[in-house]
Amino acid sequence: MNNIKDQKNLNQKIVLLRLDLNVPLQNNIITDQTRIDKIIPTIQFLLKKKSKILVISHIGRPKGKANKDLSLKPICENLKKKINEEVKLISKNIFELKKKDLFKDFKNQIIFLENIRFYKEEEENDLDFSKHLASLADLFVNDAFSCSHRAHASVTSITKFLPSFAGLQLETEINALKKVTTEVKKPVTCIIGGSKISTKIGIIKNLIPKFNNIVIIGGMANNILEYKGHRIGKSIKENNCDTIIEDIFKASKEHSCSIIFPEDVMVGKNIEDESSTKELNQVSEDDFILDIGPKTINKINSVIENSKTVLWNGPAGYFENPNFAKGSYEIAKKIIKKNKDDSIYSVAGGGDTIAVINQIKAINNFNFISTAGGAFLEYLEGKELPGIKALN
Ligand code: 3PG
Repeated sequence: MNNIKDQKNLNQKIVLLRLDLNVPLQNNIITDQTRIDKIIPTIQFLLKKKSKILVISHIGRPKGKANKDLSLKPICENLKKKINEEVKLISKNIFELKKKDLFKDFKNQIIFLENIRFYKEEEENDLDFSKHLASLADLFVNDAFSCSHRAHASVTSITKFLPSFAGLQLETEINALKKVTTEVKKPVTCIIGGSKISTKIGIIKNLIPKFNNIVIIGGMANNILEYKGHRIGKSIKENNCDTIIEDIFKASKEHSCSIIFPEDVMVGKNIEDESSTKELNQVSEDDFILDIGPKTINKINSVIENSKTVLWNGPAGYFENPNFAKGSYEIAKKIIKKNKDDSIYSVAGGGDTIAVINQIKAINNFNFISTAGGAFLEYLEGKELPGIKALN
């Protein structure tokens, strides 16, 4: 994998820079800026080399349709202030763009294309689309480790049409995760939560042989609870997961890996509600499970207490409402405490997990923070991510 930092002549070259600026947004306000902060060194590097930077990113899952709530505008504004440079956002249809026009009337160095997932061709990994994207630039840089598990046009097939390089942040992430996977100290615990159930539930089985404990919280835990015969009311869940869950429990027995899931929960009647603690047999049909309960927190804390390595991806609940943030905060606090005693190696990953950790100002109390969520888990699984394979 060649890194852009080793390239000599970048002067006036148009660099198509794939970033993952999929930051959490609430009413167009960025609620966590970490993913933007992390790519600033790459931008600064390219600015210094006098390259023209054409940024591609997605935000959210607009499913191939333009959606003004998922515009990259607030991100451009944020970056502009941070680096004190002009940043132009082009909203015009990408298919109408031509390389010679891009920087013609724009004397500065950074242009953003609008959310690449407004085009259905992106997720279809469409070759004509990536060929057209490639025609806009001289070389391609992937600095989006956190979406390198997606075989999408601007991540993988684009590399067929342009000289392609790894970015600074992508290399940092891979080196750190390599270290974690090769030098891991046992017992090792993986905590998996969040709301992207479909991305994560299929991965757990493959993680089981590598871990002593897997803690399942967040949306996925609802699937486990339902499988175990508990009512989950109106809570989020993924359909048709019973076979996957059966396999998870079977594999956990074979590999002596403990699967920990909620013993009690916090519920509300909607996501804006106050929270109330419920035993599993008290959850009613109109409840939403939105966090783990106190017994579960204690259980997870004792698992962390007895671990030497903890990897955490995905919050325990709907932390955007402070009434349902306690589970995630308590997990973070326990890891931080063990980290301060130097009795644990800790890695956290994923946009929402980082947001939780930032809310309690503890980002520097983890050994490593990865911007990646799904990609982080697939990397741990031992998979070669399509975006990385394409660079190789
Ligand atoms: C992420 O936030 O993990 C990446 O941006 C990928 O997003 P996706 O799960 O919508 O593909």
